[in-house]
Amino acid sequence: MTRLIVVSNRVSAPVDPAAGSAGGLAMALSAALRKYEGLWFGWSGETIEHFTGELKTEDRAGVEVALVDLEAQDVEEYYNGYANKTLWPLFHHRVDLTAYERSYGEGYERVNRRFAETLAPLIQPDDIIWVHDYHLIPLARDLRRLGITNRIGFFLHTPWPARQLLVTLPHHRRLVESLFAYDLIGFQTQEWLDLFRDYVISEARGELAGYGGLEAFGREVRIGTFPIGIDVEGFMEARDSREGVRTYDRMAASAAFRSMIVGVDRLDYSKGLEERMLGYEQFLQDHAEIRGDVFLVQVTPISRDEVDTYQDIRARLDSLAGRINGEFADMDWQPIRYLNRSYRRDQLAGIYRAAKVCLVTPLRDGMNLVAKEYVCAQNPDDPGVLILSRFAGAAEQMGEALLVNPFSREEVADAIHRALTMPLDERIRKWQALMKVVQDTDVGLWRDAYVGALKAIQLSGGDDDAVPA
Ligand code: G6P
Repeated sequence: MTRLIVVSNRVSAPVDPAAGSAGGLAMALSAALRKYEGLWFGWSGETIEHFTGELKTEDRAGVEVALVDLEAQDVEEYYNGYANKTLWPLFHHRVDLTAYERSYGEGYERVNRRFAETLAPLIQPDDIIWVHDYHLIPLARDLRRLGITNRIGFFLHTPWPARQLLVTLPHHRRLVESLFAYDLIGFQTQEWLDLFRDYVISEARGELAGYGGLEAFGREVRIGTFPIGIDVEGFMEARDSREGVRTYDRMAASAAFRSMIVGVDRLDYSKGLEERMLGYEQFLQDHAEIRGDVFLVQVTPISRDEVDTYQDIRARLDSLAGRINGEFADMDWQPIRYLNRSYRRDQLAGIYRAAKVCLVTPLRDGMNLVAKEYVCAQNPDDPGVLILSRFAGAAEQMGEALLVNPFSREEVADAIHRALTMPLDERIRKWQALMKVVQDTDVGLWRDAYVGALKAIQLSGGDDDAVPA
């Protein structure tokens, strides 16, 4: 019996999937694990004085999870450090924000080793292992060193950086080499896959292998694009649930005679929130005739707040939202409702449904599921308009959105105006095309495509002589 073992830093399987505030990634993986009998392994989010590797297991709405505690130093060097101060900004093209500290790299290697040592005894011969995201790139290499010969796949939820940026990372070759201990590497888009291939061919003298794979470091690996999506049926149910409808009614009443624009993003510099607010400000300046008929609801839960770059962006957004409100608000109208909190999925669905326009303007983003959720929540007879950054992975599929360059506040301002004045027939035509994309990339299809591709890989006989040292 083939079990699926999912491994990710954060195990965010919600206790109640119907009403959870869980984001796209959590919903996607929970959906995968409910279908295949298996296990979700990762960090508990807790710290402990001395690492023991002791597992805490629990059942979360049909998903079995196994969690380990980490030491405070691990969290500092591996999670806050290498994952969030080094790889995250680098993978999002922000070399200016990237910290290159040796201790972070050491902590990253240590935690990956600890994960491997804790996970290895749980693995049965027929299991397939699916590792997620930049926190755990070396995990397969460490599992192989412990003698694990199972099929192991990796999926990167973020972008892959351009070669010219990746080479700024000390030991970049070692990081990429460790990816060759996987059997399958999945990317969100063709663009990220092309950038990876470019690095391997140019920097590591790799070669294309016949079936669309890559050969380098003495090993072959398959690569593919697997654009993630949302749980379409579940999201529609959330929208039509009592809480979804109640939230919609509440927002629609609060938006009476006005058009609501919505943005929903973790508080992260990659999301282009400052640029978005400046674009919105430009719109307010350019269109005094309609500005009082519009308002922006920006839902932005605080994220990674132990990291200085996140504290900085938070302070700048506080100040920017305050300045724009101070400058433009009237006694009965405020241009921005800036909310540093999260909402449950059913409430979000109700908020999206009441919004005439959705702004998704990351400067760089692996995929972006808010774009897909917004489309899914719309009323087919009177849908709203999606404004989407051309630098989000989602733009590769969602070309019918109003694509913008988020670095240009004038372009963002123009797109807001165009969205607000778009005729109904055009809105319907665009929405239908976008909704087809959302359905065609449903999370269930994503899961089946990835797991199917990983399962289809024939093991080379279990010897580990091809494993990078
Ligand atoms: C992105 C990453 C995920 C991560 C999530 C939330 O979507 O791709 O791996 O879990 O952000 O970030 P956090 O640091 O809170 O886990």
